[in-house]
Amino acid sequence: MTESLSNLLSENRTFPPTPEFAAAANAKPEIYDEAERDRLAFWEKQAGKLHWFKKWNTVLEWKAPFAKWFVGGKLNASYNALDRHVIEGRGDRVAFYFEGEPGDTKVLTYADMLREVKKAANALTSLGIKDGDRVAIYMPMIPEAVIAMLACARVGATHSVVFGGFSADSLLARIQDAEAKLVITADGGFRKGAAFPLKPIVDDALKGSHPVERVLVVKRTGQESAMGERDIWWHDLVEKQRAEHEAKPFDSEHSLFILYTSGTTAKPKGIHHTTGGYLTQAAFTHRMVFDIKPEKDIYWCTADVGWVTGHSYIVYGPMINGATQVIYEGTPDTPHKGRIFEMIEKYKVTILYTAPTLIRTWMKWGDEFPNKQNLKSLRLLGSVGEPINPEAWMWYREVIGGNRCPIVDTWWQTETGAIMISPLPGVTATKPGSAMLPLPGISAKVVDDSGNPVAKGSGGYLIIDKPWPSMLRGVWKEPARYQETYWSRFEGLYFAGDGAKLDGDGALWVLGRVDDVMNVSGHRISTTEVESALVSHDSVAEAAVVGAKDDLTGQAIVAFVILRGGVGAVQDGLEKALKEHVSKEIGPIARPKQIMVVNELPKTRSGKIMRRLLRDVAENRAVGDATTLADPNVMKLISEGLKSGKRED
Ligand code: WTA
Repeated sequence: MTESLSNLLSENRTFPPTPEFAAAANAKPEIYDEAERDRLAFWEKQAGKLHWFKKWNTVLEWKAPFAKWFVGGKLNASYNALDRHVIEGRGDRVAFYFEGEPGDTKVLTYADMLREVKKAANALTSLGIKDGDRVAIYMPMIPEAVIAMLACARVGATHSVVFGGFSADSLLARIQDAEAKLVITADGGFRKGAAFPLKPIVDDALKGSHPVERVLVVKRTGQESAMGERDIWWHDLVEKQRAEHEAKPFDSEHSLFILYTSGTTAKPKGIHHTTGGYLTQAAFTHRMVFDIKPEKDIYWCTADVGWVTGHSYIVYGPMINGATQVIYEGTPDTPHKGRIFEMIEKYKVTILYTAPTLIRTWMKWGDEFPNKQNLKSLRLLGSVGEPINPEAWMWYREVIGGNRCPIVDTWWQTETGAIMISPLPGVTATKPGSAMLPLPGISAKVVDDSGNPVAKGSGGYLIIDKPWPSMLRGVWKEPARYQETYWSRFEGLYFAGDGAKLDGDGALWVLGRVDDVMNVSGHRISTTEVESALVSHDSVAEAAVVGAKDDLTGQAIVAFVILRGGVGAVQDGLEKALKEHVSKEIGPIARPKQIMVVNELPKTRSGKIMRRLLRDVAENRAVGDATTLADPNVMKLISEGLKSGKRED
């Protein structure tokens, strides 16, 4: 029998927690046993840490694949994130240190946030928004984005945040699908040293057919904005509202938000999340995985609120836990490549949560930027969004974390709502590149083609076999698509679309999307393992590999690599050296047939490599649908660079 996915790379380095960290950690080893003994009681206990207007009668109603959690309970998300802190005397604590890209700053305490959210909630009500309505939010990373989300939650309206980098067409499609009545936007925002427009894109989008009645516009950049009949300035409407607003109780299963996942080509799926279970798991995971000490820590998650990471680990999890956060509007290389490090020093950030794409970009830029800054305040580092290559993990640990900080590699999805697989700092001995174990209360496994759990040392499909509180409740208006996409590959199991392996110790390694798996001479090889082998070479900062049709082997491995800062021009013999390096690291079967040095890789707007497009290049085809690319020019650059450069076969 062929293996579902070969296990190639092995990793022996391990980093146990220091006794000091373990002694002070929020998570203790017993927590796994506690959850194992009685899963539902465990989640019930976590839910009990939220504020409920009315307690639930049933913890879980499960009619696969449809779940309801904390049924009969009533709560308000905004009350949990704000009122509670102010009532309990934490109103003066800083909620956000905001920094705009041009360098403007704003400090907002929990009391400030509550006042602003109350005014915004009154403003929404004055525009006729009520519980059950949908509101689209299309904003830059400014505090008003968070205020808008919490104001929606406060009045029971379901928010649909659309990332500010999406086009008018994408925005319109999402507005239509969710039938949003209101759009909250800004004139624009700052990125890469310049103002970019948002309001004109909304105007463009709304030339199509849609149910939008009003557009509420925050003034951020001061760009000229044409204000029509349906448009209203945030400062005109919100500023004059009363700062009194009572948060009403909503059902535990009340719709909190829809968030569209773009996928690669298909129509985006409106991932639907509700309130009680989602908040329970977002807050619990934020407390345990980031070891948050709200009175001391300065926490910075670099995601945009347009992604699920921004929802769960900027807005809901951290605010429910009363954390103090940094949020930043702009890009990491404006005005220079040390911007993020400068801010870590300035705000004395203790916990940093970011994505492998940024970590590898930093590696590419070179160590001099982080080395210039004092990063000693950091005590914990997190990663999310893609598999993190062991060498990138080591670089993160050494150069950013000063060999001091535990790293939590957190696996989860828009669909799962909150972290599912991750080390627990202070408990888990981590391995570079592994997300380690399912969190307490979560049941995830690696299975073979027939859905049976694989043995240690083998690869297969990553599945979840028990419902979890923050799971998606469906695809908005498309129940059949929900069943088909997530629950049809294996009977009764949620299949996430990712491949994974279990190592000899039972630690989990996520190996990327199964759609990307390559088949070389009958061996199924994950792109992640070959990429990690390439990144473990001194010269390589980032790599993407694809399987290209090959007469001899079915598919042959073609690698695209970005060199590390300081490596300079491509030296003779580098390609050969890299091939040999991969051969040596993981075996001759994974030796790339071809290696191309490039300056950029095609990525989605959330930073994931789009291997499908590279496959087109590798197979000398016209490049397919590139509309979900963050930078549409990248493919042109790659093709042109390759034509002018030397190609080795
Ligand atoms: C990938 C982001 C490996 C994975 C929260 C997943 C990861 C998809 C990791 C979801 C990780 C996310 N290790 N792969 N730690 N975290 N992924 O919906 O393929 O933007 O299915 O949610 O990202 O991406 P999404």
